[in-house]
Amino acid sequence: MLRLALTKGRIEEKALEYLKESGYDTSELDKEKRGRKLLFRVGNEIEVVLAKAADVITYVERGVCDGGIVGEDTIMEAGANVYELLDLEFGKCRFALAGIKGKDFYQGSGHKIIASKYPAVTKKYFNEKGIDVEVVKIEGSVELGPVLGLSDAIVDIVETGSTLKANGLEVYEDVAQISARFIANVSRIKTKKQEFDKLTAALARTVKNKREKCLGEN
Ligand code: PRP
Repeated sequence: MLRLALTKGRIEEKALEYLKESGYDTSELDKEKRGRKLLFRVGNEIEVVLAKAADVITYVERGVCDGGIVGEDTIMEAGANVYELLDLEFGKCRFALAGIKGKDFYQGSGHKIIASKYPAVTKKYFNEKGIDVEVVKIEGSVELGPVLGLSDAIVDIVETGSTLKANGLEVYEDVAQISARFIANVSRIKTKKQEFDKLTAALARTVKNKREKCLGEN
C-alpha cells in the first residue's frame, strides 16, 4: 500500500484524472461523494490524502506519506529533500521577474525591493546573479507590489499572463519553468520500490498518451 498526498485544488483535479487514466479507481474522491473527508482509498493499492501544497512536502519529507503530487514551485521554495520521480507535465507555468511595463528593472544602482510569495526562490535567483535585493513576503495578489509602489518588481507565477497585463505589468525575465511532479520520500523509495515502480510506470504511460494526444490536436 502506498499513501500519497495530493495538493488540493487545481493540481488535485488533474492528478485524479491522471490516476484514473492510469487504471486506478478514484471514485471515492468524486466531488458528490467525498463530503469533508480528507483520507481516501484509490483501489486496493493506494491511499490518498488531500493537503495544501506546502503540507504535501512536510508529509512526504517526514514519511507520514510515502509520496505525493505537488508543484515544482512548492518544492523549490521549500528546498525540499524529496525524490522527484516524474514530471507529470501538467500545471505548467513559469516563475518570472515582472514589474511595471516599459520600466528598466536594472537601471540605477539603488537598493531594489522585490515582493513575492516565494522569498526563498527570489533570494536564490538574485544571489546567483550576485545582486543584493530586499525581499518582502506577500501572501497573494503579489501584482499589487509594484502597482502600489511597495516594490520595484515581483517574482511570481505566470500562467496566461493575464493578471500581469490587467495590472499594467510585464515579464522582465523568466526565472524557471515549473509543472506538477510525482515525488517520493527518500527512504520509502527504496523500501517500497516495487509499489513505486508500478505507479511511476503507469503514470508515465498516461503522461506520454496525453502528450501524444496533445500533439495530435495541434
Ligand atoms: C497566481 C499567481 C498570479 C496568477 C497568474 O495567483 O500568483 O497572481 O495566478 O496567473 P495568470 O498568468 O494566468 O494571470 P492565484 O490565482 O493562485 O492567486 P493569489 O495571487 O491570490 O495567490
